[in-house]
Amino acid sequence: MTDKPALPSDGDSILKLAARSMFDLFSSMAEGMMLVDRSGRVVWINDGYRRFLPALGFAHEEDFIGRPIEEVVPNTQMRHVLESGKPILIDLLTNKAGTFVVSRIPLRDDAGEVIGVLGMVLFDHPETTLQPLIGKFASLQRELDDARKALAEQRRAKYTFASFIGSSPAAIEVKRQARRAAQGDSTVLLLGETGTGKELLAHAIHAGSARANKPFVSVNLAALPETLLEAEFFGVAPGAFTGADRKGRDGRFKLADGGTLFLDEIGDMPLSLQAKLLRALQEQEIEPLGSTRMFKVDVRLVAATSRDLKSMIAEGTFREDLYYRLNVLQIRLPPLRERLTDLEALAESLLESIALRSGMPLRELTASALSALMSYAWPGNVRELRNTLEQAAMLTDHARLSAEDFAGLKGNDPVASSLAASVLRPLPQMIAELERRSIQSALEASKGNKVSAARMLGISRATLYEKLAGMK
Ligand SMILES: Nc1ncnc2c1ncn2[C@@H]1O[C@H](COP(=O)(O)OP(=O)(O)OP(=O)(O)O)[C@@H](O)[C@H]1O
Ligand SMILES: [Mg+2]
Repeated sequence: MTDKPALPSDGDSILKLAARSMFDLFSSMAEGMMLVDRSGRVVWINDGYRRFLPALGFAHEEDFIGRPIEEVVPNTQMRHVLESGKPILIDLLTNKAGTFVVSRIPLRDDAGEVIGVLGMVLFDHPETTLQPLIGKFASLQRELDDARKALAEQRRAKYTFASFIGSSPAAIEVKRQARRAAQGDSTVLLLGETGTGKELLAHAIHAGSARANKPFVSVNLAALPETLLEAEFFGVAPGAFTGADRKGRDGRFKLADGGTLFLDEIGDMPLSLQAKLLRALQEQEIEPLGSTRMFKVDVRLVAATSRDLKSMIAEGTFREDLYYRLNVLQIRLPPLRERLTDLEALAESLLESIALRSGMPLRELTASALSALMSYAWPGNVRELRNTLEQAAMLTDHARLSAEDFAGLKGNDPVASSLAASVLRPLPQMIAELERRSIQSALEASKGNKVSAARMLGISRATLYEKLAGMK
């Protein structure tokens, strides 16, 4: 019996053996191998590599050996590995010879100096050998492209000046001011009651400006909790927090770079953030949370609120200096009751969009409906008009909506119209009015039956009698 060869017992020899074995393994697995020296010249290729030479344009090995690597292998990264000393364990290399999966490993001398690079072609035709991987990569790339497109779509303005319906003098004036604002880059402050079209106009200003092809990003200050606002605005620097935000995150300022940032409900901005916003506006730079650096951003601001900023300043809840920064071009949107001549055109356009959105047939208004709508005060402005039309359309099949379809509106509703017209009267008086109307409707609905009227109102019969007595 002969003894099997024994492993060497000293560590050094073991490592050398391991290195040899690994090299042998790689060279038998790899499709080809080559070596460049410290100066980046090819000094050796193995048998496997020889078969790539024709495709690289070389008939003889002698023409290939001794030449600087980038002269003989287009797109190679060997020089980069030589200079950085860092391996590239796996990479795709494409050149005139085809596409290859390659690996590049720096070789060091005993002192640790890089003296050359070993290049290996692990696979040729990766499109077949690595099909599952490459297929997955391509499909991820497609998904990424789609997501990017969808995001860009989302960040485009939804409305143009044409979407702002109205030809009353007040509406024409608003559009004139907004068009002028769109031509410049100044900050715009949109003021007006709820539902008057501030958001619509902000989109239109962006769409009509030179920034139209850049993002339109909005932040609703009333919708976000105060604790999240700063990060949302200015972003988070990488490493500022552990967990989900470890990688850092761009704020809305950054996302809007080159485009328009819409600060909706600016009157709801907490004082602490007002100070930070003011600073960002003065410096034209932002500082992400946890960062020590400032970043330049190029953003046009449009701010909007239905709140009375002047009285907020007086109360100390809105900074006066910020107000003056924002109030460069002020546009006031008129309430609907001050431009009732636009109501018909508005209703037509809203009915069209309701029909489109709901898939229901298009409705028209009778003359009686129009005059019912005209006699209402519209505290919720165009948004309320839209909701009212939508509800009426849902509740009836008639192609033409008449005054009865808007019976719920009660153009003569003293409570609603006094609220709307801001003719506030003492609360007890308004409550009494509301009570009287509710009792009347309950009695109408119960055809005069006081017991069932009381039940509908959720009060006792005795209370109802008491109230009726008081109403006389
Ligand atoms: N002039 C207009 N022409 C057509 N539609 C309008 C007009 N003004 C407002 N609208 C519509 O009315 C609705 C409310 O408008 P918008 O959201 O712009 O109001 P807002 O002023 O931002 O209100 P809020 O202060 O409550 O946020 C939207 O559906 C909008 O499309
Ligand atoms: Mg709004």
